[in-house]
Amino acid sequence: MTNQVKTRETSGKGLPSKKDHPAGKCLMSRRKFLLSSGLTTATIMVTMNPGTNAAAKVPAVLSTYPRKKIAKLSALKTDKPVAFEYPDKGAFSQSMLVKMGTEAGGGIGPQKDVVAFNYFCTHQGGDLTGTYKADTKSLGACPLHLSTYDLTRHGILISGQAYQSLPQVLLELEGDDIYAVGVFGLIFGRFDNLQG
Ligand code: FES
Repeated sequence: MTNQVKTRETSGKGLPSKKDHPAGKCLMSRRKFLLSSGLTTATIMVTMNPGTNAAAKVPAVLSTYPRKKIAKLSALKTDKPVAFEYPDKGAFSQSMLVKMGTEAGGGIGPQKDVVAFNYFCTHQGGDLTGTYKADTKSLGACPLHLSTYDLTRHGILISGQAYQSLPQVLLELEGDDIYAVGVFGLIFGRFDNLQG
C-alpha cells in the first residue's frame, strides 16, 4: 500500500527563536508553501490590458518544480549525507539529503528526521559540501565566512555572516522512495530557483 508523507515548511525569513520554532514544528502549512512558491501545474488565463478596448485573455503557463526520486529511505544511514542535484543540473543545484536521528522541521519518515538542503551558503555562495556535523545536526562552518545552519529548524542561521536560512528541499515519501518536490528559499546565485 502506498504510504505518502508530506513535509511541512517555513517562511525561512528572519531568525526565529528556538522557543518560537522548536525542532520538528511546522512553521507554514503545505498549502501556504505551495501558494507562496508558485508551485502549480495549471495553465491559467491572464487578462492583458484590463478595462480597455484592447483587453484580452491570454494563456500563461506557471513554472513547476520537478518531482525527482533521490533515494530510498531504507538505504539511508544515520548522519551519512547523500548528495543529489535539484531542481536541475544547473549552477548551485548540489544538495544533500540526511537522516539525522532527530526530529526536524520538514522532516519525513517515521521519525520525521530526514531532511534535505541546498549546499550553497546564502551569504556569498560558499560550498558547504562535507561540513555536516552529526553532533549539532548542522551544516557549516562555511569555508568563506563561517556561517553555520541548523538543519533541525529549517536551516536557520546559527552563527556567521549570512542572514537568510539555507534553502530547504521539500520532500515526499512514497513507500520507500524519497522524492524532492520543491525548494523553500532562494538558492544562492539564482533570481528564480527554476532558472538555473
Ligand atoms: S559565503 Fe558563507 S559565510 Fe560568507
